[in-house]
Amino acid sequence: MTDLSATTGVTDRPSGASAAPRAADTSSCVRDFLDRQVPPTPCLVLDLAVVRSRYTGLRSMLPDARVCYAVKANPQPEVVAELVGLGASFDVASPGEIDLCLANGATPESISYGNTIKKPVDIARAHELGVRLFATDSAADLDNIAAAAPGASVFCRVLVDNEGSRTPFGRKFGCDPETAARLLERASRLGLDPYGASFHIGSQQHDPEAWEHGIVAAREVFDQVTGVRPRMVNLGGGLPASYTQAAPPPRDYAERIEAALDRNFGSERPELLIEPGRHLVGDAGVLRSEVVLVTPETGGQRRWVYLDVGRYNGLAETEGEAITYRLRTARDGDATGPVVLAGPTCDGDDVLYQDTSYELPVTLRGGDWVDLLSAGAYTASYSSVGFNGFAPLPTYCLDSRAVGHTAGDVRTERP
Ligand SMILES: Cc1ncc(COP(=O)(O)O)c(C=O)c1O
Repeated sequence: MTDLSATTGVTDRPSGASAAPRAADTSSCVRDFLDRQVPPTPCLVLDLAVVRSRYTGLRSMLPDARVCYAVKANPQPEVVAELVGLGASFDVASPGEIDLCLANGATPESISYGNTIKKPVDIARAHELGVRLFATDSAADLDNIAAAAPGASVFCRVLVDNEGSRTPFGRKFGCDPETAARLLERASRLGLDPYGASFHIGSQQHDPEAWEHGIVAAREVFDQVTGVRPRMVNLGGGLPASYTQAAPPPRDYAERIEAALDRNFGSERPELLIEPGRHLVGDAGVLRSEVVLVTPETGGQRRWVYLDVGRYNGLAETEGEAITYRLRTARDGDATGPVVLAGPTCDGDDVLYQDTSYELPVTLRGGDWVDLLSAGAYTASYSSVGFNGFAPLPTYCLDSRAVGHTAGDVRTERP
């Protein structure tokens, strides 16, 4: 089986499908499934073996860090169950995700409620289910936690520069280190455990040095608190998947994180959490789509290729062309030409790529398949509404390393 964790087949130039397919583009198991079973499109096919290898790789690179999978990246139950089996913890955003984790074997102690925006009723529900770890970044939320989850541990999220991230968070979450220090002191007065500080350096972060900003900010929080002793730093998410723009290898990230921790904490090394989402599941997935229509180049207008998947049924992260998926088509090897790629809905914003230069085979026709590689993160999970009557994206899970696996075995099917 081809381990996608080894995939370096990204190009700096988003050339779409112009190159011949690379062997390492996806696992042979996923290809076999798509070619033999020909599932209705669009659909996402995930190889759980890739999720496993990403998780174990991260554990070995950052052995001191408790790995909390950010469930929002792909809440497929089989992914959660697989990670439970490997001893993972979970970062959740709502009681719905807590239920999902518990239903798939996670213990309440392994769950961190990482959303700073939550209703009192949701905090109470999490507490009732046994969750004892909560993120916060405001006095109002902290007071709600103290009332609905007495005695819980809390960590305070600091706002950090997201430069280098393809999908930055803006200013929605986090506070400055001084405010975080005051919140942890307040937590202690409210009978909570002021456990530590967290940050998120922005998703699909291309700069391994970026973690330094967060680690410095966490150090500031630790230095500015009085009367309490926080003991944990949560390194957040941000580790990349393989899209068209090459990102440094995972080991570079681990080394820079370790070095920043040494510089800022020395022998007072805190407990560590890390919350990878995209890195664990992104490269495990292939999204198969079908060409609905191709309209030829006319009067200076590029050729338009309309797929049966778009912004509202799986490709939300193409907004602003932030995430540029690698493509593969049924006609790779034929001559290529520039295209605008768009989704199937009646919405004018449902255009995937018009500024990023993609080239696809000139022979591409309606009915042909187009695969979007490394599409396991933030695709099916964003596709839950059914806008314009297009169904949410179904997911199939395979395991290319399962004992007794034969090509095309489907471990699950959720059309
Ligand atoms: C609190 C938190 N942690 C972790 C993640 C996962 O981030 P990534 O997919 O970049 O690893 C997210 C993503 O939104 C998040 O909000």
